[in-house]
Amino acid sequence: MATHSHDHTPRPLTSKPVSGLSGSILVPGDKSISHRSLILGTVADGQTRITGLLEADDVMATAGAMRALGATIVKNGDQWLVDGMGNGSLLEPEQPLDFGNAGTGSRLTMGLVAGYDFPVKFVGDASLSSRPMGRVLNPLRETGMQVDAAQGDCLPLTVHGAPLAIPITYRVPVASAQVKSAILLAGLNIAGTTTVIEPVMTRDHTEKMLAGFGADLSINVDSQGARHIALKGQTDLQAQDVTVPGDPSSAGFAIVAGLIVPHSDLTVRNVLLNPTRTGLIDTLIEMGADLTVENRRQSGGEDIGDIHVRSCQLKGVKVPAERAPSMIDEYPVLAVAASFAHGETHMLGLEELRVKECDRLAVTARNLEANGVDCTEGKDYLVVRGGAVPGGGQVETHLDHRIAMSFLVMGMAAQNPVSVDDVTMIATSFREFEDLMHSLGARFS
Ligand code: S3P
Repeated sequence: MATHSHDHTPRPLTSKPVSGLSGSILVPGDKSISHRSLILGTVADGQTRITGLLEADDVMATAGAMRALGATIVKNGDQWLVDGMGNGSLLEPEQPLDFGNAGTGSRLTMGLVAGYDFPVKFVGDASLSSRPMGRVLNPLRETGMQVDAAQGDCLPLTVHGAPLAIPITYRVPVASAQVKSAILLAGLNIAGTTTVIEPVMTRDHTEKMLAGFGADLSINVDSQGARHIALKGQTDLQAQDVTVPGDPSSAGFAIVAGLIVPHSDLTVRNVLLNPTRTGLIDTLIEMGADLTVENRRQSGGEDIGDIHVRSCQLKGVKVPAERAPSMIDEYPVLAVAASFAHGETHMLGLEELRVKECDRLAVTARNLEANGVDCTEGKDYLVVRGGAVPGGGQVETHLDHRIAMSFLVMGMAAQNPVSVDDVTMIATSFREFEDLMHSLGARFS
């Protein structure tokens, strides 16, 4: 059997203080929608054509997995073409599925194969192999799926769906779009109705896109505000033309850079503005950001727009716990923005940050401190006391792309350069980051 080594040579990078970022950039496609367009294309009948797919390592790992399950996926010009197998027709993969650093791709695929009576092995890098998979495996076990996993339900692991899988009703105990999505995808090939109850709304791309591909799906909100998403299994899905909007999580780095680097004026175009994803923009506006959304329009069934930012003095705010799901990947870069703000920023409800590509709550706090920023890390909160940011620190990224990018942004506006130990992981979500930031005036060496 092939061995899966994720050793890589770290590439350090230093970001130097600059003045006046300017220009206009187009961020690459949304990662969440990119994974889902490949997955749904694989189980649809016909050819799905995807424009604007994010060509980052995480998404390419999902493309590799979908090929191993039988889909034909090729790039043709600026479109990605997925020849689907049809719902219920996935093939047993001959090799382990290697998801690299990708939590979303691996967890969604565990769900996708839960209705199939064959074994599928999942492997990944050191970061992914330390992340909890029980949150998707436990509900999937209720369908009858067998799991052969290392201690703590971590990768590497093998799943085997039941010959007659049982449809489940599952109330998601943590605010996680990945858990919701894994169960709904499992329901696609399970006879009967699979229901996910979501007390706290998370990004809704899976349910919107399932409906777009023709799945039989209904959503009801109960008197407590919980969403009940019911999917009828074993119906046909139809191939679609998908246009992937720009990723708001990637846009966040340029937006914060434009706010904290003095004399900046820049525009980030084509950004997804789905309300389950705009928590960072809402928070920055509360902090007094000079930020306007221009050209609001519709693309691929989603609101998108261009974000125009000019640098300004931010002020500290309290970011309520309820907002966390709509900006869960943006806290590291928000913490950087808060470092430059007047006063304290309190970020609450951050328990999920501990199980991201690294323990993002602890790693953000340690790297703020390494750059002279006063902060307090609680069990599920972070308080940042803003002001002048000395910088000059050595940032440890722990295989986390968003930590790397956030602290490179800090270096653009700190008093001294900020050095990051390894930027190779940026390719998992945003390989154009360095070039695009450079085009706006950033200086890296
Ligand atoms: C994602 C959901 C979030 C997010 C991740 C992408 C998705 O994870 O952090 O980057 O595409 O469903 P959780 O579901 O674990 O919150």
